[in-house]
Amino acid sequence: TGDVTYDPGFMNTANAKSAVTFIDGDEGVLRYRGYAIEDLAKNSSFMEVAYLLIYGELPTADTLAAWEENIARHTMVHEDIKNFFGGFPRDAHPMPVLSSSVSALSTFYSDSQDPFDEEQVHISTIRLLAKVPVLASYAFKKSLGQPFMYPKNDLNYVENFLRLCFGVPAEDYEIDPDVVKALDLLLMLHADHEQNCSTSTVRLVGSAHANMFASVSAGINALYGPLHGGANEAVLNMLRRIQSEGMKPEEFMEKVKNKEDGVKLMGFGHRVYKNYDPRAKIIKSTAEEILVKLGGNDELLEIAQRLEEKALADDYFIERKLYPNVDFYTGVIYKAMGFPEKMFTVLFALGRLPGWIAQWREMIEDPETKIGRPRQIYTGHPLRTYGA
Ligand code: CMC
Repeated sequence: TGDVTYDPGFMNTANAKSAVTFIDGDEGVLRYRGYAIEDLAKNSSFMEVAYLLIYGELPTADTLAAWEENIARHTMVHEDIKNFFGGFPRDAHPMPVLSSSVSALSTFYSDSQDPFDEEQVHISTIRLLAKVPVLASYAFKKSLGQPFMYPKNDLNYVENFLRLCFGVPAEDYEIDPDVVKALDLLLMLHADHEQNCSTSTVRLVGSAHANMFASVSAGINALYGPLHGGANEAVLNMLRRIQSEGMKPEEFMEKVKNKEDGVKLMGFGHRVYKNYDPRAKIIKSTAEEILVKLGGNDELLEIAQRLEEKALADDYFIERKLYPNVDFYTGVIYKAMGFPEKMFTVLFALGRLPGWIAQWREMIEDPETKIGRPRQIYTGHPLRTYGA
């Protein structure tokens, strides 16, 4: 093992060459395919960014319309898939329900198993983008005990998803354009983030030539963790705890700094950003705007703002270069939109889906890709003899 480099958490190991996303963590820069996230946030849409990430260029207006129409035509899921949802307990967390149902898609599409068949990769891409929001809404409806809705394909991607989640068959669902705009933006901001834990998982599973459904399902499970996508749910729980216990932000900060019971300021810190996360900047102003429009829980937003203010002026956070990350303000917005905490990480998964697909395809197309197989430093017993 002499030639093996020990690098826990892959802090210094690049496992891929990628042209999808660029991050400069010191400067707080994020670009998709060369376009600044601020530029896309202002001018683009989630569906357009999905195309950009996957195919490398912005679509023309006609191509975008065809892309959206194609995805809309694949939103129906096989009726038998619905049976899976019946097997989960009612209080099941929607993330493992989502990963299980995405994994189950592999069993329904035997024509989408070959990672080297261009047509199969194309149809898997479309099916995943079309069906994951539907499955996500079923995971949600299951937890509410409400009937599953059929997609309505004259609606756009985000409108359709909102109706699937909040609509009921007996009534027309009234779409709030402010919510659609805000959710579209949030999904776009989550769409890719180079070799994060879930994307690396998707690549690792795919490097064994597992199909796209299996690889994305593994990514969803990685994202479920509270240090990764699960942080948005953990932030809201933290804010609520501070609110319900009537704790001052300073008191909570002391707990964090003393590492009391391993408590962390959730939504702060990042492996790559050692500066303000550019996504958090955009989300913070969206949170302020949308809460005015929707009349959400201002007190939670205020607690978050006070925590941020204190943290940014505190030596503990300054020395460690800990800044708010993408998850710090998203929960407050999702809550105002009517999503319960359990759905927050599912929304992250919906947003990250185009990135997972783009990275999986790039990995498969790269002739330098090898099966992911890290080495280890063995720390166990030397040879022992059974019965000796
Ligand atoms: N609150 C308090 N202390 C922290 C925090 C935090 N949120 N984050 C890092 N630290 C401390 C950590 O204890 C360590 O201190 P010391 O040097 O005294 O041991 C130091 O800062 C370096 O942290 P690390 O854990 O070694 O850094 P990492 O790169 O391994 O972890 C992280 C990055 C995001 C897992 C971590 O910052 C964290 O746990 N943050 C809270 C969870 C969170 O918000 N996650 C969402 C990440 S962004 C979205 C996504 O990618 O999913």
